[in-house]
Amino acid sequence: MKTINLSAQEVREAVSMREAIDAVRRGFVDLAGGEFEMPTRTALRNGQFLVMSAHHRPTESAMIKTLSLNFDRVPAIAGTVTWSTLDKVDSLIADAGAVTTLRTGAAVGVATDLLAAPDADRLTLIGAGGQAPDQVRAVHTVRPLRHLTIVDTNTERAGALADTLQAELDGTEIRTATDPAAAVSDAHIVCCATPATSPLFPESALPAQVHVNAIGAFRPTMRELPDELLANSTVIIDELDAILEESGEILHALEAGAITKDDLTELGPALTAAPTDHGKRTVFKTVGVAMQDWAIARLLADKFLS
Ligand SMILES: NC(=O)c1ccc[n+]([C@@H]2O[C@H](COP(=O)([O-])OP(=O)(O)OC[C@H]3O[C@@H](n4cnc5c(N)ncnc54)[C@H](O)[C@@H]3O)[C@@H](O)[C@H]2O)c1
Repeated sequence: MKTINLSAQEVREAVSMREAIDAVRRGFVDLAGGEFEMPTRTALRNGQFLVMSAHHRPTESAMIKTLSLNFDRVPAIAGTVTWSTLDKVDSLIADAGAVTTLRTGAAVGVATDLLAAPDADRLTLIGAGGQAPDQVRAVHTVRPLRHLTIVDTNTERAGALADTLQAELDGTEIRTATDPAAAVSDAHIVCCATPATSPLFPESALPAQVHVNAIGAFRPTMRELPDELLANSTVIIDELDAILEESGEILHALEAGAITKDDLTELGPALTAAPTDHGKRTVFKTVGVAMQDWAIARLLADKFLS
């Protein structure tokens, strides 16, 4: 019996963003098809410790992730992802921070590919922390970017991320900004990746046609998007039970009567439904579900345990 241990660097070297997006897309389709057993995650100490698990019935494989979350620490997320199957005794343990940024980026890549205009090439990213680089890499994988604007209340972080990404993204003009409302005004795609507790910009700041991804809020007290945007957009979510438990912006909009549950469509079914109407604003709200971690862990298991 062996246990493979993978560091953050080994995870990153093993899995490309394209592979992650394809794996997470297949995962969302399987989730819609009822192939996963996936309890709502356990949040301890008001979300500072999370335990997430998913069992994929067809492959008799399971993933469990445990992590701690502390925004006063760099990186904010630390922990482990473990993978096991019924047929083999060998298992795998991988760095949860690397798996999380990859799978969160990948979900945004899947949603952006589905929802953004085919020629979208201007991204505004709000929040330049641990999740941010993979948000950009994922969007760039499905919609090659000509312009990227990075906004953060911490201007040093925004500048450092701009330098990192400029070295990776040939042909993308990258700038930093401090005013989120001004920075989203000419965006084709917006990514929100902050622990904000109130909306980052008003709906009126957005252009008529735009796709907005929001990954930040994962507790009922957190919010990145205004009610009006949710009320007037096509809203796609990762998974209804998780969203109703954790997404501050969706809960706020529901309580305010701005939207109803019928206005929410899960990403899995949306992937196999009729093509999106690109004339309307679109929003993808994700709190993150264990299936996504399972999808990355499966890629790792295929490479290291076969
Ligand atoms: N949906 C998911 O699957 C998922 C996965 C991982 C993390 N998250 C969440 O995403 C958020 C970001 O995670 P992270 O690891 O990058 O955090 P982080 O602390 O590393 O970075 C957050 C960044 O946002 C900036 N920021 C905070 N408030 C801001 C504001 N009002 N305007 C502009 N910038 C602001 C901070 O200065 C910081 O640079 C967190 O809330 C985290 O819990 C969600």
